[in-house]
Amino acid sequence: MNNLELKTRDLDVLWHPCTQMKDHETLPLIPIKKAHGIYLEDFEGNSYIDAISSWWVNMFGHTNTYINSKIKEQLDTLEHVILAGFTHEPVVRLSERLVKLTPPGLDKCFYSDNGSSAVEVALKMSYHAHLNDGKKDKNVFVSLKNSYHGETIGALSVGDVELYKDTYAPLLLKTLQTAVPYDMSIEAAKEAAKEFEFLCQKKADTLSAIILEPLIQGAGYMHMYHPEFLVLIRQICTKYNVHLIADEVMVGFGRTGKLFACEVANITPDFIVLSKGLTGGYLPLSVVVTSNEIYAKFYCDYNEHKAFLHSHSYTGNALACAAANATLDIFENENTIKNNEKIAAYMAEKLKTFESLPNVSTIRQTGMICVVELKGYKSEERIGLKIYQYCLGKGVLIRPLGHVVYFMPPYIITNKEIDIMMDTTYTAIKSLL
Ligand SMILES: Cc1ncc(COP(=O)(O)O)c(C=O)c1O
Repeated sequence: MNNLELKTRDLDVLWHPCTQMKDHETLPLIPIKKAHGIYLEDFEGNSYIDAISSWWVNMFGHTNTYINSKIKEQLDTLEHVILAGFTHEPVVRLSERLVKLTPPGLDKCFYSDNGSSAVEVALKMSYHAHLNDGKKDKNVFVSLKNSYHGETIGALSVGDVELYKDTYAPLLLKTLQTAVPYDMSIEAAKEAAKEFEFLCQKKADTLSAIILEPLIQGAGYMHMYHPEFLVLIRQICTKYNVHLIADEVMVGFGRTGKLFACEVANITPDFIVLSKGLTGGYLPLSVVVTSNEIYAKFYCDYNEHKAFLHSHSYTGNALACAAANATLDIFENENTIKNNEKIAAYMAEKLKTFESLPNVSTIRQTGMICVVELKGYKSEERIGLKIYQYCLGKGVLIRPLGHVVYFMPPYIITNKEIDIMMDTTYTAIKSLL
């Protein structure tokens, strides 16, 4: 097997995600033979630093020895069992741990298998909880401008990134978008929260929930805002009986510097949505953790309209739960959140060097995510693609969002590897001048 052979076979039979397939007439597809630590390796021995953690999922490197061993152990015991009417030890242990680790007041775990489906679960649960309370008019969802919550119809309906949404507009639910703080200042946080409060004053009787990405809007060009916004939104939600859904699919598991972004603001949402890093980047799994109070609204003698009759075949998959338990073991045993402070501080120093480039408009950072925003380019120039190609040629995988370049490496990256990742990108951006 070589790179060319696999590429040819691939393009014969595959349709890749988030891709204009015709691009691959000129843009080479990279066949990966194996991966270890932060490195991906192709069939010709070229290796690439995975600076985006393979779409933000990988926490502790590829083929991590410890996670591998735990999945292998599980593989010989139980691979999967239906979760309706049955249970298993890995899912129970994982749920006990998540209830302990998520903000206080989140007590019940409902599983699915990717971020979008978990967002669907949270939206349906929110609406249904109000309905079970006799409030049938509370059927409208609010989200933030520039938000992203996934690609299924419900998740796309609460998103607000034109690139993904506009084409499908006629198919989507009607939702409302409210302001996101325009920058990371506390003033911007207060101003945006006022707009939401104004909306609640007018329409709270029809609002089921607000869904937001706490602190960082990922696919929305890594836009960041002040934690005070979350504090204020929590207060407003409580005041007007509107649920708060914290979509931590991207920011969860340490990306913001705390295990969960909600901790930074010290708030408890009504639903927290987790996926991506949950299994360390190994297997598809997602979970919605909610309160006993919400759970109680569904708990009664059998009534098909009151129970939450939502399911996915692979709900609570045992192998995925084993991977998730192993991932949490590493967080605990290796004091990851504390160690990440050093990595984040080192990246912060390096990030400053980008500021002096004339084609850089701003830099920003929250915890383990660093961003360099470029200026002076039109979208048709596909500037991100040029940077992607340059860096790949030098053995670094970064995947800019338009004119926004970001670094989100696995937590095992060393200072030397950070140097390579950031210096290569610096040269790529400089070479555009
Ligand atoms: C904040 C957020 N929510 C939801 C999703 C959807 O997750 P998935 O791609 O697993 O469906 C994503 C994916 O990037 C995300 O960033």
